[in-house]
Amino acid sequence: MNWLAGRVVENRHWTEALFSLRVENAPLRYQAGQFVRIALEVGGQRVARAFSFVNPPQDPVLEFYGVIVPAGPLSPRLAALEPGDTLQVASNPAGFLVLSELPDAQTLWLLSTGTGLAPFLSILRTAEPYRRFREIVLVHAVRHARELVYREVIEKLDVKYVSFVSREPHAGSLAGRIPAAIADGRLEAAAGVALSPDSSRVMLCGNPDMLRDASAALQARGLRKHRRRAPGHIVVESFW
Ligand SMILES: Cc1cc2nc3c(=O)[nH]c(=O)nc-3n(C[C@H](O)[C@H](O)[C@H](O)COP(=O)(O)OP(=O)(O)OC[C@H]3O[C@@H](n4cnc5c(N)ncnc54)[C@H](O)[C@@H]3O)c2cc1C
Ligand SMILES: NC(=O)c1ccc[n+]([C@@H]2O[C@H](COP(=O)([O-])OP(=O)(O)OC[C@H]3O[C@@H](n4cnc5c(N)ncnc54)[C@H](OP(=O)(O)O)[C@@H]3O)[C@@H](O)[C@H]2O)c1
Repeated sequence: MNWLAGRVVENRHWTEALFSLRVENAPLRYQAGQFVRIALEVGGQRVARAFSFVNPPQDPVLEFYGVIVPAGPLSPRLAALEPGDTLQVASNPAGFLVLSELPDAQTLWLLSTGTGLAPFLSILRTAEPYRRFREIVLVHAVRHARELVYREVIEKLDVKYVSFVSREPHAGSLAGRIPAAIADGRLEAAAGVALSPDSSRVMLCGNPDMLRDASAALQARGLRKHRRRAPGHIVVESFW
């Protein structure tokens, strides 16, 4: 593994805490849904963290979507980068939140919280999901309505988009959390699609507590974790 020099071409700030970095870098090989470690030198030490690609693999410019964790060693520094600044990009993208991990079915559910939206935007800008699934439901859960980002990208996708806003009322979004809405049927009603082991495959990304609680709600509906030796319905990626 080598470290490559990436050059920031844009750092878009959606809110005071949310940012998207676009980075020119030597070409990398990866599948949509994977991540790569990016790093900065801090006090003479390399500080590296995993970030999912937002861009699809065919795009030459890399894009990462991040949140400032105020006491975090890396994220506030990434948020402060400006066009022309450099950062380090590892040469070995990785990760199992990829469509090749899941068997075919009628419906693909992509469930995310916060920055966990990122890998799904990469997957949804490739041809594979539309070839393999008749319907796709993209779910994004955030605390506040202003965090419903990338709407201009999502509007162009052939998906059913369901948003959750948990900490203020917001017309057009569900209230509360994803696991409760799986359990009481509100998620299926909002998507207009049934969730069942026969018809559905589910990818989850973001907050580890959401992954745990949503996986339990899905298991109660008969879906189980996918393993290569025991094909199932659910793949997850935890961001911390
Ligand atoms: C496979 C993988 C992919 C990832 N992809 C992304 C990504 O695309 N975008 C992104 O912003 N982060 C992503 N992360 C998290 C990222 O690697 C860093 O942890 C994050 O940027 C914070 O870095 P930090 O050094 O500031 O704080 P850290 O010391 O890394 O984290 C401190 C704490 O901040 C919280 N936290 C960390 N990441 C997040 C987050 N994304 N949202 C909310 N709270 C968080 C957790 O409580 C964590 O314990 C990913 C992590 C993994 C393992
Ligand atoms: N979001 C911001 O604007 C902001 C600002 C400053 C700093 N930060 C930093 O980022 C961190 C959190 O970022 P975030 O808001 O992107 O992520 P988050 O805390 O994961 O919240 C995103 C969504 O996930 C939901 N969620 C949390 N736990 C869940 C569970 N067990 N099951 C289902 N859903 C669950 C939240 O619902 P609930 O609301 O019900 O918890 C919220 O709707 C903070 O710790 C802070 O360090 C964020």
